[in-house]
Amino acid sequence: MSGPNTSYDPVQVTPLNAASVDAMVAEALAAFAAATSTAELKQARLAHAADRSPIALANREIGALPPQARKEVGARVGRARGTITEALKAREEEIKAAELARILVEERVDVTLPVQTQPVGAVHPITALMNLMEDVFIAMGWEVAEGPELEAEWLNFDALNFIPDHPARTMQDTLFVEPDDGGIVLRTHTSPVQARAMLTRELPIYVVCPGRVYRSDEYDATHLPVFHQIEGLAVDKGITLGHLRGTLDHFARAMFGETRTRMRPNYFPFTEPSAEVDLECFVCHGASVGNPDYPCRTCKSEGWIEWGGCGVVNPRVLQACGVDTEIYSGFAFGMGVDRTLMFRNNAEDMRDMIEGDVRFSRALVGTAR
Ligand code: PHE
Repeated sequence: MSGPNTSYDPVQVTPLNAASVDAMVAEALAAFAAATSTAELKQARLAHAADRSPIALANREIGALPPQARKEVGARVGRARGTITEALKAREEEIKAAELARILVEERVDVTLPVQTQPVGAVHPITALMNLMEDVFIAMGWEVAEGPELEAEWLNFDALNFIPDHPARTMQDTLFVEPDDGGIVLRTHTSPVQARAMLTRELPIYVVCPGRVYRSDEYDATHLPVFHQIEGLAVDKGITLGHLRGTLDHFARAMFGETRTRMRPNYFPFTEPSAEVDLECFVCHGASVGNPDYPCRTCKSEGWIEWGGCGVVNPRVLQACGVDTEIYSGFAFGMGVDRTLMFRNNAEDMRDMIEGDVRFSRALVGTAR
């Protein structure tokens, strides 16, 4: 039979006597003090303060005591549990504070350390210069036209009045795309965009076309097999050579500051008359010519710099593109962008333009923007 044991003497119940309870408290406090991390403290809590800890088990014994003994023992165990709980809390806070302090030290970020930044690229000087050239014409109300680099032979040559056996068509100059007789070439100039513009746009036409062109040229300081041109085309009523001259002078001054242009007669199948455009040297303005005391690097003391080709659009080209030559006439010009960059920025070796050294781009981009 079970029931309250009235003769039960608490002193005889070992876990509840003062010495045992004090020992439990002492052990708990020692374990808490010994724990140095949250994980260790958790183990100490499970062993000394949780449901199965000696003090919790002792607490459960209280109910079995005779009523007269419960008060004293209950108070003792209660005090002991209070002490343990408080010690646990205090230690918990100490450990948290220590861990936080350690994290603050170990994971400290020194914002003054030099960082390894990603190297920043730069707009290629050719691109920057082409943008600048476009802007000169956009400011005059012109449009920018584009054409493909893989071009129909008909547009690259025939539409531009190159006779079938014109030497420029031969394998020496032109890069043909296989099959050889497939009628596709890597465009040798930006002039096919003239034909494209006339075939697709409403008149009048004022367009510039900057772009990459290809010729089976040498690769040296002044030649690249892949280079850049900017083409200009104006087709309107009453266009004359005078309009061309004025446009080129304006373009030249926008590019080089105070300078003027001159035209030397030349031949292009797609313009008639045709001319080479020279720039008056924008550095010495001709003062270096015949003057050994004042040599000019930019024009090599020649006073003039060859810049590009131009002319009045040959009526045969206008007709091939469906333009009524009774009403309309036009002018066209084409300049080498790489050449322009060379003498505008004193870049001496064209190969630097394509070898991709970012130092070249960084050095030139500030001036070619
Ligand atoms: N397409 C010519 C060349 O590549 C340049 C040019 C363009 C000449 C327009 C006249 C008119 O040399």
